[in-house]
Amino acid sequence: MKAIAVRPGRPNSVHLADLPKPRVEDVPGGRGVLVRVLKVGVDATDREINDALYGNAPPGFDFLVLGHESFGIVEAIGPAVRHVRPGDYVTCTVRRPGTSIYDRIGRSDITSEEIYYERGINLLHGFLTEYYVDDAEFVVKMPVGLKHLHVLAEPMSCAAKAVQQAFEAQRRLQVWDPKLAFVTGAGQIGLLSTLILRLRGLEVFTFARGAAPCLKSEIVSALGATYVSTKEKSLRDIVAAAGKPDLIIEATGSSAVAFESMEILGHNGVEVWTSITGGQRRVEVPSDNVNINWVLGNKLLLGSVNANRRHFEIGISDLALGEVTYPGVIERILTNPVSGITNFNEMMRLLVEDKDALKVYVDVAEG
Ligand SMILES: NC(=O)c1ccc[n+]([C@@H]2O[C@H](COP(=O)([O-])OP(=O)(O)OC[C@H]3O[C@@H](n4cnc5c(N)ncnc54)[C@H](OP(=O)(O)O)[C@@H]3O)[C@@H](O)[C@H]2O)c1
Repeated sequence: MKAIAVRPGRPNSVHLADLPKPRVEDVPGGRGVLVRVLKVGVDATDREINDALYGNAPPGFDFLVLGHESFGIVEAIGPAVRHVRPGDYVTCTVRRPGTSIYDRIGRSDITSEEIYYERGINLLHGFLTEYYVDDAEFVVKMPVGLKHLHVLAEPMSCAAKAVQQAFEAQRRLQVWDPKLAFVTGAGQIGLLSTLILRLRGLEVFTFARGAAPCLKSEIVSALGATYVSTKEKSLRDIVAAAGKPDLIIEATGSSAVAFESMEILGHNGVEVWTSITGGQRRVEVPSDNVNINWVLGNKLLLGSVNANRRHFEIGISDLALGEVTYPGVIERILTNPVSGITNFNEMMRLLVEDKDALKVYVDVAEG
């Protein structure tokens, strides 16, 4: 069975690996689900693993199979599996439990351990192969009517968690009625967060660098939100016109934007940081000003990463609602298919070089 893999620690080591086909019996207790992989999305995380910035091979291997954004079809199930059956379309969560109290209650997404066990990222093989087996607990059914949105289920789960955590945390206020949100970043996380917030009835401004019109601005507008190019207008310009936001979802990958956006959040607001910034950048911040405004405004900053089964389910529900509310818009995110698992060089080329590639995914098999 072919797989796209890297040798962790060695830059630009992406290659084709060979693995035995897994069996449903590989998972104990009759809980195994064997999935034939149809499509796998890739993102900056896969690029950075190939750059040897992070990622570790599973014990006993000198390579790591890439791919954490999966879409496939169930081929076989163990006798204890109830929620999916052969022929169902499924996606799969990424992180597997460690031993902390959060892991033990099914919340590995908020594990307190330093080591993450993540398929396709750290210590566990990913989905960029022909078949995988996993415990039924981690396999999430996708309705056949969302088949065309396939690999978006995983990034959607991260956006769903970010927004859900904000609403959950704002219960601290006893009453919260957010009207205005800013989303910084119009990549997959920013656009899917924009979708969720529009579905919740908020007015949304989504910020990115590129000048409109462009694909990202068209998607934002089609979701009923307002696209802002930071080359033309700043966060402060929009505050002057529309007021301070109740909620900010930060998803640019830029720590400078993350800190800048802290300066404009409204009273009692919440800001969610999702960017994973692997560099060593330093920025100057007006620290006295931010400090006093956050104290006097009772503001909240929270970080959000990964997603558990519940966030996948919320995300898939919102994809379905998004499809009927804004027909045909979400699939526009899926810009760059790569044909076949042997085409791994083209996959990496698109990820590294093509700045217009909003979403790169590999068509592994028909189905
Ligand atoms: N927390 C989680 O669970 C989670 C999950 C997945 C990804 N992430 C992280 O979330 C971040 C976003 O992911 P993504 O896949 O959506 O990224 P992406 O496709 O690279 O999109 C980044 C967006 O931010 C905009 N941007 C970048 N720098 C900017 C700046 N200085 N000012 C204004 N806009 C700026 C880009 O603008 P242009 O469009 O004009 O280039 C683009 O629209 C990344 O750091 C990623 O690693 C987190």
